[in-house]
Amino acid sequence: MSRQTNDVRRVTVPEIRGRKGGEPIVCLTAYTAPVAQLLDKHCDLLLVGDSVGMVLHGLPNTVGVTLDMMILHGQAVMRGADRALVVVDMPFGSFEASAELAFINATRVLKETGAQAVKMEASGANIGETIRFLVDRGVPVMGHVGLRPQAVNVDGKFRAKGRTKEERTRVLAEARAADEAGAFAIVVEGVDETLAPEITAAVKAPTIGIGASAQCDGQILVTDDLLGLFEWTPKFVRRYADLKGVIDKAAASYAADVRARRFPAAAETYALNAAPGGKPQRPRVARGDKHG
Ligand code: KIV
Repeated sequence: MSRQTNDVRRVTVPEIRGRKGGEPIVCLTAYTAPVAQLLDKHCDLLLVGDSVGMVLHGLPNTVGVTLDMMILHGQAVMRGADRALVVVDMPFGSFEASAELAFINATRVLKETGAQAVKMEASGANIGETIRFLVDRGVPVMGHVGLRPQAVNVDGKFRAKGRTKEERTRVLAEARAADEAGAFAIVVEGVDETLAPEITAAVKAPTIGIGASAQCDGQILVTDDLLGLFEWTPKFVRRYADLKGVIDKAAASYAADVRARRFPAAAETYALNAAPGGKPQRPRVARGDKHG
């Protein structure tokens, strides 16, 4: 992987915050260095989402994701992305017990990955307190309200929020609390389409919608959904590619070539060199050297 690191300036937290009401903020998830490198020039913000548990590790939901997993993927994304702001999700169990625990784990994430900020699906009475504690101590926090996948065991399933008056009031109050506590941006996930503009108008921080509304200050999608790597995707996903089909076709062609002994061809093998004394010798080729 070749990367240009000179003269590339990374988007900052204040710059994202300053985009409120301006040009829409483009965000995608990333979990690996090569994908982060591809997305970097197109995005303002890359989220190392805990959706990595479902997307890359085959977990049924995000509850089983650990801090170590997030750090490993955060490090990979930071190796791939030079430009976009990189935000790492705090996984379930890493921040809820106390503001102190949240601070200890969030600083571990920033120190060990080099990412610029964390995201927390914080909710309820503690949301403001925890976010404020972190922001006051130098940890930029992105909030997350509405559908919170980490609460799947309480909700019973992934379910859009804000369809009842009580739910609307609660989600709006959580967004306000995150905003007043100093969140630099707030993800608004899976809410009634009329609630997202209401939240956007009520908070100073830019809102980043997913399954929300085009009226948010920015949008985010899970990259693997956008690329069409899954059979099923939520209603709010727009597929921009069919990588599942591309991979399926490529793997089928490879399998057919191997079975028919069409692969490898002569050009894809190493020629034998005549060594001194006439004994053939295989050239030494470094791994990854395609032309050796
Ligand atoms: O984990 C994740 O990918 C997320 C986004 C969907 C916002 O939280």
